[in-house]
Amino acid sequence: MLKSRKTFPCSAAVIALAMPHVATADTAPGARAAATVQQMTADEKVVLTHGIMPLPFIPGTVVPAEAVPGAGYVAGVARLGVPALRETDASLGVAWVGGLRHDGATAMPSGIAQAATWNPEVLRRGGAMIGGEARAKGFNVLLAGGANLTRDPRNGRTFEYLSEDPLLTGTLVGAAINGVQSNHIISTIKHFALNGQETGRKFVDIRIGEAAARESDLLAFEIGIEIGHPGSVMCAYNVVNGQHACDSDWLLNTVLKKDWRWDGFVMSDWGAVPGMAAALHGLDQQSGEQLDPAVFLGKTLEAAATGDKAVARRLDDMDTRVLTAIYASGLDKYPANPGGAIDFKADGDVAFDAAKQGIVLLKNDAGVLPLAASAKRIVVIGGFASVGVMSGAGSSQVQGDRGPALTIPAGEDGPFAALTARSYHRSSPLKAIRALAPAATVTYRDGYELSDAVAQARKADVVIVFATKWATEGLDQADLALPEGQDALIAAVAAANPHTVVVLETGNPVTMPWLDKTAAVLEAWYPGARGGEAIASVLFGQTNPSGHLPVTFPAGTDQLPRHDIDGYATLEPNFAGDPPTPDARLSANYDIEGSDVGYRWFARTGAKPLFPFGYGLSYTTFASSGLTVDGLHASLTVTNTGARAGATVAQVYLVSRNGAAKQRLVGFQRVDLAAGESRKVSLTIDPRLLADWTAKGWHLNAGRYGFAMGDDAAHLSAPVTATEPARTWRD
Ligand code: BGC
Repeated sequence: MLKSRKTFPCSAAVIALAMPHVATADTAPGARAAATVQQMTADEKVVLTHGIMPLPFIPGTVVPAEAVPGAGYVAGVARLGVPALRETDASLGVAWVGGLRHDGATAMPSGIAQAATWNPEVLRRGGAMIGGEARAKGFNVLLAGGANLTRDPRNGRTFEYLSEDPLLTGTLVGAAINGVQSNHIISTIKHFALNGQETGRKFVDIRIGEAAARESDLLAFEIGIEIGHPGSVMCAYNVVNGQHACDSDWLLNTVLKKDWRWDGFVMSDWGAVPGMAAALHGLDQQSGEQLDPAVFLGKTLEAAATGDKAVARRLDDMDTRVLTAIYASGLDKYPANPGGAIDFKADGDVAFDAAKQGIVLLKNDAGVLPLAASAKRIVVIGGFASVGVMSGAGSSQVQGDRGPALTIPAGEDGPFAALTARSYHRSSPLKAIRALAPAATVTYRDGYELSDAVAQARKADVVIVFATKWATEGLDQADLALPEGQDALIAAVAAANPHTVVVLETGNPVTMPWLDKTAAVLEAWYPGARGGEAIASVLFGQTNPSGHLPVTFPAGTDQLPRHDIDGYATLEPNFAGDPPTPDARLSANYDIEGSDVGYRWFARTGAKPLFPFGYGLSYTTFASSGLTVDGLHASLTVTNTGARAGATVAQVYLVSRNGAAKQRLVGFQRVDLAAGESRKVSLTIDPRLLADWTAKGWHLNAGRYGFAMGDDAAHLSAPVTATEPARTWRD
């Protein structure tokens, strides 16, 4: 597994220089890499630095026989025992590539659903499961580890990413990467950095001050890299402060490689390389080169290296970095195994468990849930609950071997149309409900006609309305409303029957104008391959809900830092995110909220969200008590005060610094408790979460720091105070 340069100090490089030809499989990866580079010819040095998208539908593409259809292929150097890199998208499972792969894979719930577990072990097991399936399909590099913060809940990839908080995101993504890489596979972390919107994603210029970036999005990556040691970082499409992220000397050379001492390789996003200079600014590998204007990091780079020592040194470093990751993950010693066996039952259980832990109970009036076994007439309405559960689209789309239960074309045709279709996994909530309520009459209505749905609702003991909002990579959302008249459907059904339960399958927060009229609401997200069963399990109480929101649910878009997503109103929808004309310009000002993303913004503005970050109910009740903070150690006691076993998330927030309000999550832990059980939770606080980024690095003023525990970011205990000495340090 790849370590940072902190753990492979310069002695390794010294050994490599002294004994370049004797490196063995037991030598440290960096030293082996340096030795291999010394043996490379000029032509071989530009083999690992670029690759194609091995998909036949891309015009002019010849897919090499040894490539596996997927997102990427980088040739190896057989003479030196260097394997080719076979790359697949894998945010939520081995990607389906718009139907090109028919071998099927297990779909985890969306990233936001996994994050709602607040449980790193769920992410680690998911990563390990996906990595195992990928090996069995011949892949050795997974394009996984989406770690962009949810700066705007309308971002089309909110479903794929994790949360709005750097500690939660970094901790969870690090665990997922550990899981992937436990299979002798390289994982990425992506998209570095500040890829906060899909609109105009290839040219939007994110304007943000350094301190704000270091304290938010960059910190999520930093923590994720420290925990997960990914072999690769995928740089992002967007521009940051005037420089393309894949061509940003500051992001790649200064932050990632110098300050964080990370020794893996930076691969570009697909079609994100503006020119050869990107290599000098820290890019190590050009991916999906057919999507760029030219192959910059192949022959062009080789020619440049011939006459220029600085370029030649950089090229050696690029190769060393790719090889270090290859050796650290053991790609050469443990080759992936195409045609290997996959235990789909066991893998499905991993997805099922994640879905159950990630479903968030948002409302439960008078204990309408869990549904009583005595309910005789249940009406299920809408959301295609008869066939399956919704999934998010784009490069992360996964399907089982029989493909989707249902696909609705979402846009125009063309080579990438299949990547953006609205599709449903084959896990029908209706069937799962029927299985758990064998004595009840369970009727289904699609909700197409309002009066029919209302008539059915009147006759029922309980109504379960499934409401969906589809999301995809490449397109942001105009607002936070449920589409296609579903608000009206829910309102009408709830007016007809007070026992109306709403199940949301959404990738983003939504508004709920009908909330007061309904009895219960579950946020099930896009719940993955066995989502229907997970939903039914929570509805009937086989699973006690324990998910907590990893993002704030705003009451409306007027509470967000930006009225509209920049460019949304003016640009035509465009999956690639290309500029409409070569000179088109677009920028987004992230200094509005700075590092106060999500709940921090709500704390700063005093706005009251619909549901706060961290919120989630259970069928039991919990109480937290006895918060103490001593230096960087916090402890508290969590008690299950109800009558059934359940899990909650202990959350500790910074709330003030020397009397000035400042809110940041500084520690969390999911706790499983039997009825009546108490547990002491101890948390270590990362000082970066208390600090400001300054020209000298992280800085902590001496003084009094206020902390509070809470069930969520908006409902906090009385603060306790800890005293911290002044400190300034670099990472
Ligand atoms: C996405 C990446 C993905 C790549 C390869 C890009 O459009 O932004 O997340 O890994 O395509 O499919």
